[in-house]
Amino acid sequence: MVRVVHLFVRNLVHLWRQSRGQVKPLPSGGEDISPVSAVVTLKLAQTLDGRIATSRGHSRWVTGVEARAYGHRLRAEHAAVVVGVNTVLMDDPRLNVRLVDGPDPIRIVLDSHLRISPSSAVLSVADTRPIVATTHLADQRRVAPLEAMGVQVLRLPDQDDRVSLHALLAWLNSEGMPSLLVEGGATVTTSFLRERLATRVAIFIAPKILGAGTESIGDLGVTVMSEAITVVDRTTEAVGEDLVIRGRLQWPVPSRHP
Ligand SMILES: NC(=O)c1ccc[n+]([C@@H]2O[C@H](COP(=O)([O-])OP(=O)(O)OC[C@H]3O[C@@H](n4cnc5c(N)ncnc54)[C@H](OP(=O)(O)O)[C@@H]3O)[C@@H](O)[C@H]2O)c1
Repeated sequence: MVRVVHLFVRNLVHLWRQSRGQVKPLPSGGEDISPVSAVVTLKLAQTLDGRIATSRGHSRWVTGVEARAYGHRLRAEHAAVVVGVNTVLMDDPRLNVRLVDGPDPIRIVLDSHLRISPSSAVLSVADTRPIVATTHLADQRRVAPLEAMGVQVLRLPDQDDRVSLHALLAWLNSEGMPSLLVEGGATVTTSFLRERLATRVAIFIAPKILGAGTESIGDLGVTVMSEAITVVDRTTEAVGEDLVIRGRLQWPVPSRHP
């Protein structure tokens, strides 16, 4: 009940801010509607050579402060934000909105085995209750301490031993959350693309070259160019020293190649 009231108030605040122009409404076209009706935006900050982190996993910061403020604006535009547990363990992000004026999204960590550290910053920011989405594979003894900290531990079905993204989107839909910002890392971004659950991208490109490092997106099984995912309805903007390309994802038609 408390959660329902909380969501209701939060949505009212969001609508009020949108009406005052503080938060831009998300584009809503039939094309953006996935089977569970969510707008799912993949946000990544990468170098010119497509890296989101160095070979040691260091990624603070790929882009400049203006791009990071833009990233916070994206958070404020979405109902929820999600990252993989490795990003939490490596970067310790808070995932709230600080660099611009806007509402915090619901913050979600995908953590099939409850590997998250209780001292993670994302769990200690008080404004909205953080959610750790997990599976039956997690050690159940880890649940109670997290819940005692005010964390919502959401047990979802697994797919290949990881949190099912379809189940996550269905849950968001049932909670009345129409949009999700995916903030990485590479494994999570790749999963959303593999499952064809992403609808939009916001890709920040920094004028930097790293060579070896973490590639922004992993293998999608693409073997010929006609199988590439295309970004359509694009906008390209300079943001400080960086570029941001935003657009809608158009999926390739099934290939005749084996
Ligand atoms: N520049 C950027 O934009 C940016 C943004 C974010 C992160 N990063 C960098 O990216 C690196 C971390 O990326 P990463 O690829 O190692 O890890 P990640 O994507 O942050 O997390 C992956 C982990 O999430 C868990 N998970 C649960 N359900 C999942 C699902 N359905 N699909 C995929 N993963 C799921 C899995 O661990 P379990 O099996 O234990 O659940 C998986 O190993 C760090 O170096 C970080 O600095 C860069």
